[in-house]
Amino acid sequence: MIVVNSVSGLRGKLDTLKPSLLGFVPTMGALHEGHISLAARAKKDCPVMVVSIYVNPTQFNDKEDLKNYPRTIQSDIRLLKKHLRKNDIVFIPDDREIYPEPGTRKFSFGSLDRVMEALHRPGHFNGVAQVVSRLFEIVKPDIAYFGLKDFQQVAVIKSLVRQLSMKVRIEACPIIRESDGLAMSSRNRLLEPDIRRRAPVIRRTLIKAAEMINTKDIGGIRDYVKKTIELEKDFEVEYFEIADDEKLIPVSDRSEMKRDKRYYGCIAVRAGRIRLIDNIEITLA
Ligand code: PAJ
Repeated sequence: MIVVNSVSGLRGKLDTLKPSLLGFVPTMGALHEGHISLAARAKKDCPVMVVSIYVNPTQFNDKEDLKNYPRTIQSDIRLLKKHLRKNDIVFIPDDREIYPEPGTRKFSFGSLDRVMEALHRPGHFNGVAQVVSRLFEIVKPDIAYFGLKDFQQVAVIKSLVRQLSMKVRIEACPIIRESDGLAMSSRNRLLEPDIRRRAPVIRRTLIKAAEMINTKDIGGIRDYVKKTIELEKDFEVEYFEIADDEKLIPVSDRSEMKRDKRYYGCIAVRAGRIRLIDNIEITLA
């Protein structure tokens, strides 16, 4: 495994290696098995991969969140060493490498800008698009791997690639969970023990919601999800929507659901001071 900190260092290595297929896993570090699952997928597909670790300031709409975001670079490197190969590259740039000029690129994502995460985290996806477009220019990957835990992010990245006519293929990978069902997340380590213990209520409730689609109307399901999760002290549902996986337009009635589309129940929950997201596929019987 090779660790580089600069764009020129990275390009130098890649220009020597000239892999037939280059995989890319962008991350913000504080790595866990979710991130490793993306690297494992890249390892299967590509003879060389780049894993980047960069906490991108432009995607944080909340200054406190940026300040508190876990940074565990030494243990990240140790973990990656166990999984990456000799010629795989870990790219750990600083702000000047990513933004030699301030990030001013502006993007629009149509309907994706008007729902769920975009509504509750203004500017977030523009920041994600700024850093991912920049990283794609630097790394020039053939395939980039993203987790479906960040469901809306996957749709945004696919739109970004179409808008910029980039040649990279986007692979969406399944959500990896803790044994109690909580979706793995770098922010989980910030949860207070009592909140962490009760956090699996999110997954349990989503499973129930997915089952209810054939018997209850969507309004009833939304009420159920909100009520059940908010029975837990210090848990607050920011949104719960059932949306398709392309335009992410929330449906308000089962009759709007089309057989040839895939739907997901997407949720954001404030658990104490930490914001958690999760989702589940919802299929009509
Ligand atoms: P980060 O939150 O570090 O996540 C990096 C990648 O890991 C994302 O594609 C995310 O969806 C995936 N991931 C996180 N938790 C996962 C889990 N439990 N199962 C499967 N995949 C999981 O997402 C970002 O960073 C940033 O927005 C980034 C794309 C790096 C741009 O800054």
